[in-house]
Amino acid sequence: MKFSALFSAAAALLMFAGCAGTAVQSAPTLDEVFQTRRSVRAYEAGKVVTEAEVREIITAAQNAPSWANQQPSKYYVALSPEKTAAVLEMIGGNKEKVANASALIVSTYEKGKSGFNRGQQVNEVGEAWGAYDNGLSNAYFILKARAMGFDTLIMGMRYSDQLRPLFGIPDNEEVMAVIALGYRAADPAMPVHRPVDDIVKFF
Ligand SMILES: Cc1cc2nc3c(=O)[nH]c(=O)nc-3n(C[C@H](O)[C@H](O)[C@H](O)COP(=O)(O)O)c2cc1C
Repeated sequence: MKFSALFSAAAALLMFAGCAGTAVQSAPTLDEVFQTRRSVRAYEAGKVVTEAEVREIITAAQNAPSWANQQPSKYYVALSPEKTAAVLEMIGGNKEKVANASALIVSTYEKGKSGFNRGQQVNEVGEAWGAYDNGLSNAYFILKARAMGFDTLIMGMRYSDQLRPLFGIPDNEEVMAVIALGYRAADPAMPVHRPVDDIVKFF
């Protein structure tokens, strides 16, 4: 009797622990995200990223810093098969790499905001501050996507003159990268990184 009561209690504890183990999946650390985030050039067909998930990624990207909090970055998200098929024709040789990505997202920034004060260019960098802010936003985007288990490819090889009419992107926005979003079909190789001493000088 005593033994069976103990056994039941132990079994209940084990069941609880088992349930807790499956229910609580720990989030990856920032270093794990950095290590596993790679440019993915082959995606699993039929695995879908939802609009809600893309919203979550872009909401996270809104935490990126920007010049005077100008937040010049904008995202145009192709999710439907028709729209993604159209974008695939506008990214040149990248088409084969991202043919099975779930979403193709055009990243732009509004010109005349970052690096400007009352319409006047603040320093020699000029509009490049908008591109700087856009890159920061994109960095947050791809890292958040990886933290959620997705994969990405930033593509600078794309035809902006064709993408503009497809999404109705106005002239006051600079079209930057197209970002593929989906699930990796295979683990990509780690690229060679320059030694830190090549890129840093301490004084
Ligand atoms: C601005 C920018 C443009 C890029 N354009 C392309 C592209 O058009 N096609 C492509 O296959 N990779 C492109 N890449 C991916 C880079 O080749 C990749 O980030 C680099 O080789 C380092 O690999 P990793 O991202 O796996 O660390 C681009 C990356 C950046 C940041």
